[in-house]
Amino acid sequence: MQDPPYNLVMCEKRSVEEFIGWCRKWVDNCYAVLANDSALYVWLGAEQNNHFQPFPQFITMMAGTKFKSASLITMRNQRGYGTQKNWMAVRQELLYYTKGKPSFSVRYTDIPKILRGYYKEVNGIIAENLQRSKSKNIRPGNVWVDIQQVFYRMEENVNGCYGQKPLKAIERIILASSDQGNTVTDFFAHAGTTLLACERTGRRCVTFDIDPVFAEITIRRLERFRRTGKIGWQAGNPFERELTEINQGKADLFVGQPNQIALSRI
Ligand SMILES: C[S@@+](CC[C@H](N)C(=O)[O-])C[C@H]1O[C@@H](n2cnc3c(N)ncnc32)[C@H](O)[C@@H]1O
Repeated sequence: MQDPPYNLVMCEKRSVEEFIGWCRKWVDNCYAVLANDSALYVWLGAEQNNHFQPFPQFITMMAGTKFKSASLITMRNQRGYGTQKNWMAVRQELLYYTKGKPSFSVRYTDIPKILRGYYKEVNGIIAENLQRSKSKNIRPGNVWVDIQQVFYRMEENVNGCYGQKPLKAIERIILASSDQGNTVTDFFAHAGTTLLACERTGRRCVTFDIDPVFAEITIRRLERFRRTGKIGWQAGNPFERELTEINQGKADLFVGQPNQIALSRI
């Protein structure tokens, strides 16, 4: 599972060519480390006022790799932007690629099946869709409308993590495309959602983040889950203790080069 920063690195915008060149490198690294029969999921945005970049460039680049395309999933967000002058932008794209022939187990949503009447003949008997189906709930398909976008009132919220994905979405991917004990990798840990999802579903996880603050948050999120069963901080802060010490004048914050933040005890 990969969730790269969408063409924004340390608030510095790169050209789409540079971004795609950089993506090609981590995609190749991904191919190299994945087992022979594996799934690759990539979250990607599309700038609607700029020819949907970098989406078309990314999928074209992927066509030149050894990965095979398998599905283009759209997850619907609750809150969007551009509601007055355009269609409200509420979509999040999730690309599903395969290496070899990975297993895939069908997952169901919590949404009950309510539509009837799709008749089909099975073994000489005309059956209606509800009679034929294996579950009373619908499958997610490749349009997901049943996952709540993370916001500050939800327990899973991690303050300061601008790109946090819902735990339910990551768990859905992991449960569908891996087995217990398998290793999942995520090169862009951020709020540590993949690590937590692996912990909860019995997978091993190899994850990292270029920013030590996010790497620390990822570790703290797992440790806190193991201690308390909580999946996030809701309106609290992963650095509560440090912030209290600073407010009480017991510690100072040192901010050096980009990515260098340290707390020195006074
Ligand atoms: C969109 S966020 C990932 C969100 C994550 N899936 C979650 O649910 O919390 C992208 C992350 O990639 C990290 N990042 C950016 N460039 C990186 C690089 N070259 N190597 C590793 N991590 C990088 C950023 O620091 C950021 O935390």
